[in-house]
Amino acid sequence: MSTGYRVFSALWLGCGVRKRLVSGIMKIHLSRDFFTGIGWQDRQHRELIRRVNTFLSAVDNGEGDQELKRLFYFLDDYVVIHFDAEEQAMGEFDHPETTAHVQEHTRFIEDLERLKEEFERSSSCREVARRAGEYLTRWLTDHIKGTDKRLGMFLKERI
Ligand SMILES: [Fe+2]
Ligand SMILES: [Fe+2]
Repeated sequence: MSTGYRVFSALWLGCGVRKRLVSGIMKIHLSRDFFTGIGWQDRQHRELIRRVNTFLSAVDNGEGDQELKRLFYFLDDYVVIHFDAEEQAMGEFDHPETTAHVQEHTRFIEDLERLKEEFERSSSCREVARRAGEYLTRWLTDHIKGTDKRLGMFLKERI
């Protein structure tokens, strides 16, 4: 087999392999464990999860690069709104975990920025979107069920 043919077949197979990899990302199932008991926070989490699940559906359905980018950036706008609201509440009520909580938000925004750069650099085949989907699912689930729930419990005692 010539080197040229091997390179061509690897590229051709590469897309096929990645195509199979994109399927099967679990959507976030909004169970009771996600609820903090603070109305505005729960409403914003619901909207955030709705947007993430829409993005995951687009990855699974094989949407084109432009649509994947659009949905990912659309999600990013809402993340900023939501983090601002939580950070304002933490400041107002002097939450003892404020510094650590804000650091988690900051690192997440930095990771989203890195993923955006990867989206811009990537030529095709939805590998970046698949990794972004897995990261979003894992991070949001852990953050909401842990850090945000502790904030919710703290706010409930003060509102
Ligand atoms: Fe949150
Ligand atoms: Fe948070």
